[in-house]
Amino acid sequence: MSNSDETEGGAGFPALSLTGRVALITGAASGIGRASARLMAARGAAVVLSDRDDPGDTAAEIKATGGQALALALDVATDDGAAAMTRSALDQFGRLDILHANAGISGPLNPDLTTGAADFAEILRINLIGPWLAICAALPHLGAGASVICTASVAGIRAGAGGIPYSASKAGVISLVQTVASATAGRGLRINAVAPGLVETGMTAPLYTDARARGREDRIGQLNPLRRGGEAQEIAELVAFLASDAASYINGQVIAADGGLTASLPVAPRPAGGHPGA
Ligand SMILES: NC(=O)c1ccc[n+]([C@@H]2O[C@H](COP(=O)([O-])OP(=O)(O)OC[C@H]3O[C@@H](n4cnc5c(N)ncnc54)[C@H](O)[C@@H]3O)[C@@H](O)[C@H]2O)c1
Repeated sequence: MSNSDETEGGAGFPALSLTGRVALITGAASGIGRASARLMAARGAAVVLSDRDDPGDTAAEIKATGGQALALALDVATDDGAAAMTRSALDQFGRLDILHANAGISGPLNPDLTTGAADFAEILRINLIGPWLAICAALPHLGAGASVICTASVAGIRAGAGGIPYSASKAGVISLVQTVASATAGRGLRINAVAPGLVETGMTAPLYTDARARGREDRIGQLNPLRRGGEAQEIAELVAFLASDAASYINGQVIAADGGLTASLPVAPRPAGGHPGA
């Protein structure tokens, strides 16, 4: 554990504070990545925001409120892009402690049994190889106490929440954190995955727009026990926790933030008092 002098909630409790840390967040121009960058900056981290859409607005907003931020417009899922992100973090802030490998695309949402090699490969490139390249570039610079968080998805845990290439890519992300946690044993760094359920972001905007246009917004998230969709800030809270010393014994895990969706079997609603399974 590092920064153990920073405590919250009383002496001896590990802190959620990220003061003195440098965090690199991919896909930070929008949605979950933007919320993660904002929250980690608010908790004291210097943040490097990368996205193929210029994340300059979010970086400027963080700087305007007294934070430290650097914006990079690049494709994060290339060897050059991954190397440039890490190099820029080190050049600008002198160290790297936290990587949130988050950039992703959905591809076709409906069950699609016809996706060809090029389209499938592009989803894997961005969603799975992208995090891998970011991890490879960052690892030599991550010391004890460092934390890597990858954004997976409930679609990587069970079927039904995304297209087939997307779901396969997210299952791969879960395997990635497990295998990298094992491969980096003894170094004192942690790597975990967050698995969001449905969250309103740029990626899901068409779904929300369509539901609102049809007056069906109240149907969003009805399959999870909280009966609502999530907000990017709710995923960012989990990411920032995993980035902090408060999560110092959590490693190699996938943690869902999905309103309880993956905890429930998809059974038909029963009348009150109905026999289980009836
Ligand atoms: N929104 C959801 O319901 C949901 C659920 C589960 C998982 N996720 C995952 O959360 C992550 C963030 O997505 P979001 O929902 O915030 O969507 P989003 O579209 O709002 O944000 C994704 C960002 O990634 C960027 N990006 C995509 N490919 C890139 C590339 N090659 N290089 C650089 N930047 C790239 C996009 O420009 C965008 O800004 C994704 O990995 C997504 O799969 C989202």
